[in-house]
Amino acid sequence: MESLVADAGTCETEQALCERLVVGGTTREPAVSTPLGAARWKLLRQVLRQKHLDDCLRRVSVRRFESFNLFSVTEAKKIETEEEAGTWVQYTSVFYPEYRIFLRHNNGSLNVEDVLTSFDNTGNVCVWPSEEVLAYYCLKHRDVFRDLAVCELGGGMTCLAGLMVAISADVKEVLLTDGNEKAIRNVRDIITRNQKAGMFKTQNISSSVLRWDNETDVSQLEGHFDIVMCADCLFLDQYRASLVDAIKRLLRPMGKAMVFAPHRGNTLNQFCNLAEKAGFSLQRHENYDEHISNFHSKLKKENPDIYEENLHYPLLLILTQNG
Ligand SMILES: C[S@@+](CC[C@H](N)C(=O)[O-])C[C@H]1O[C@@H](n2cnc3c(N)ncnc32)[C@H](O)[C@@H]1O
Repeated sequence: MESLVADAGTCETEQALCERLVVGGTTREPAVSTPLGAARWKLLRQVLRQKHLDDCLRRVSVRRFESFNLFSVTEAKKIETEEEAGTWVQYTSVFYPEYRIFLRHNNGSLNVEDVLTSFDNTGNVCVWPSEEVLAYYCLKHRDVFRDLAVCELGGGMTCLAGLMVAISADVKEVLLTDGNEKAIRNVRDIITRNQKAGMFKTQNISSSVLRWDNETDVSQLEGHFDIVMCADCLFLDQYRASLVDAIKRLLRPMGKAMVFAPHRGNTLNQFCNLAEKAGFSLQRHENYDEHISNFHSKLKKENPDIYEENLHYPLLLILTQNG
C-alpha cells in the first residue's frame, strides 16, 4: 500500500486519520504515530465485523484541533427516499449567516471495496480545518468570483469551499472535484439536495472525479478556469508535482490559484518550490484574516496541548500564472 506521507514530521494526516479511525475502543497519545497501513487494516477488520465508522468516531475520546469555528453545524431533516447511509447536516457561516448549505458527511459504513481500492480516503473522514478556512475566505471575498470559472481540486467528500462560491457569488461556473470516487458520489448528492432546496446562486455547478495525475482528466479541462483552489492537499509527496502541473494546466493565462494548507513539516515549502519552478509567481500570506489570526494566537497560548501551528494553521498561497 502506498505511503501518503513520507517526510518525518509531516505525519499529521496519518496521525489524524489514526486518531479519527482508531478502532478497538482505545485511544493513544496523539504524539505517537501509528503506521497508516496498520490503521487501514484495523479499519478493514472493523468493516468485516460489520461495524460502522461512526461507532468508531464516537469512541475516539481524544481528538486534536478540528475547527476554527467558522461554521455552525446543525442536524438537517433526513430525506425519506434516501438510500445511502450518512448524516445530513446544515452548515451555516458564523460570520455571514445568510449563507448556509446542506451537507452529508460520508460517515456510513465503509465497505471492504472502499477501504482496499480507494487510493486516498483522507477526504472522506471529515471537513479539514483548511477547507473550512478556504470556505470562509471565499465567502468573505465572494465579489472576486464574479463572472469567473472556478474549480476546486481535492475538495473531499463535501467540497465545502466550492459550494460556498456557488451559493454566494455571481460566478460563471463552479466545478467541484476530487480524485476519490466515493467523495464525489457524496458531492453529487449534496449538489442535488441543495439544488432542490434552491440554495445556489449559480445553476452552473457540477462535480467530477478529477485526478491530478490523470492525463485525460486534466487535458479535457486544459486552460478552462480563472480560479483553481484547494485546501490541505500539499502533504501528498507522491502527488505534489502532479498537483502543481494540474493547477498550471487547468488555469487560463493570468488565472490564479488559491491554496490553503498548514506547513506540515516541509511539505508546504516543497510545494512552493515546485510552483516557482513551474513559472508561477507566488504570494505567501501568514496573516490573511484578523479573526483567524486572533483565534490562532489564542489557541497557541491557551491550547498548546491540542493545537500545533505546524499541523493546524493554514497559510494562504496565491499562485499567479504568468501570461
Ligand atoms: C486531506 S484531504 C483534503 C480534503 C478537503 N480539501 C478538506 O480539506 O477537507 C486530501 C484530498 O486530496 C484528494 N487527493 C489526493 N490525491 C489526489 C490526486 N492525485 N488527485 C485528486 N485528488 C487527490 C483526496 O481524495 C482527498 O480528498
